[in-house]
Amino acid sequence: MHNLVAVIMAAGKGTRMKSKLPKVMHSLAGKALIEHVLDTVTQVGIERPLVIVGHGRVEIETRISERAEIVVQTEQLGTGHAVMQALPYLDGAHTVLVLSGDQPLLKTETLRALIELHEIQGVSATVLTANMDHPFGYGRVIKNAEFVVKIAEEKDATFEQRQIQEVNTGTYCFKGSALKKALAQITTQNAQGEYYLTEVFDILLKLGEKVLAYRTLDSDEALGINSRAQLAEAEAILRNRILDHWMSEGVTIVDPASTFIDADVELSQDVTILPFTRLMGKSRIEEDAVIGPQTSLDNCTVGYGSEVTYTVAKDAVIGARCHIGPFAYLRPGTKLEAEVKVGDFVEIKNSWIGKGSKVPHLSYIGDTHIGKSANIGAGTITCNYDGVNKHLTKIGDYAFIGSNTNLVAPVEVGDYAVTGAGSTITKNVPAEALAVERGPQVIKEHWHKQKDEIGG
Ligand code: UD1
Ligand code: CA
Repeated sequence: MHNLVAVIMAAGKGTRMKSKLPKVMHSLAGKALIEHVLDTVTQVGIERPLVIVGHGRVEIETRISERAEIVVQTEQLGTGHAVMQALPYLDGAHTVLVLSGDQPLLKTETLRALIELHEIQGVSATVLTANMDHPFGYGRVIKNAEFVVKIAEEKDATFEQRQIQEVNTGTYCFKGSALKKALAQITTQNAQGEYYLTEVFDILLKLGEKVLAYRTLDSDEALGINSRAQLAEAEAILRNRILDHWMSEGVTIVDPASTFIDADVELSQDVTILPFTRLMGKSRIEEDAVIGPQTSLDNCTVGYGSEVTYTVAKDAVIGARCHIGPFAYLRPGTKLEAEVKVGDFVEIKNSWIGKGSKVPHLSYIGDTHIGKSANIGAGTITCNYDGVNKHLTKIGDYAFIGSNTNLVAPVEVGDYAVTGAGSTITKNVPAEALAVERGPQVIKEHWHKQKDEIGG
């Protein structure tokens, strides 16, 4: 492959989505449609594809400008017009790959095969096609022997052409020079009054150029997302692909029907996923970890052999052999070292917890640093917020925080220090000391009887 350039069309509004979000920014398995296409293109070795943007360009640009060259199409006059905007960047390009930003299920190996066939055959263009049971809405591929002679859009096709099941997927390989020549001649003489990229094939035929079709056997790859229903259809297909992939890599998924794994999640061998679990973003789960049931992890890391059950976590790092849940809530900035226990009804935010420490029940730990092997009693609350600012709490190694302690930050409890149950700690507790803050217990004998005498 030499001098290969990719153009991704992504300027359309996506009217049929009925959304304020530009179509290609809609999310599929945890990332935008356009990001799926960019990943595929990058995997065939194209570093900086050209992306044609228009509608919602700022949003798209913000997301992808680090990995793509942005080309603006100010008016969306059709797919042919979109590719015309890229012409100034195509000088000297031997092969031009054209893709649609709304076709996220295209596989890397298919794209590679398309490019290979195109370059080996030396034709002026090769169209990626697929046979569809319900081709409605797609351009139909009309052939003469093995050569493509025309692509007829749904709205322009004759009754006979509409019976054809081989459709244009919207992905093409062009000889740079042929694309340039043909684009210069396209018109808007069609049912939609647009510059169709597909008119290029009529022109190439007239010029005596040869166009091939490369048909993928997986028609799912052709799915273009034009509506919310198609978005859900793609989600279902991709979800199954992802689940199949991880099972083939040695992950146990007890109930695929209730398991959702985003495209960029990474799992290791012998991970077990229990039912009703969702793994999102760039979450990474290491060997022998057991996740679920009913667990949702977004951008989290879970270390070797940890168990995470009935838990919601976001942007959290869980070390090896930890026990999390049931009913734990780990918020951004949580970092747990190995063998930490976080039990039921515990919320942790922006806190570091050292090896072997335990927060077993009913606690809020925020903006806190806890050393190793500390025990945080049930009901402990770090009072990190004074209504204006957030403050830090520091708890030392082997510290023992009695049940129902309030730690009013900023405050420090030293190594091996102990706080008495029910204390509200406002001053630092030195290492190895005991701090108790509560009124002495008062006993009134025969209290019940006395109340009766008063006439209660
Ligand atoms: C297009 C093809 C059709 C094919 C189908 C596959 C044409 C004329 N038709 O139809 O043959 O079967 O894709 O999914 O090409 N875009 C721009 N600028 C524009 C118009 C569109 O960048 O001015 C972008 C859109 O954002 C989208 C892509 O091009 O990502 C395809 O446009 P869309 O309107 O979805 O084309 P289809 O009607 O699906
Ligand atoms: Ca489309």
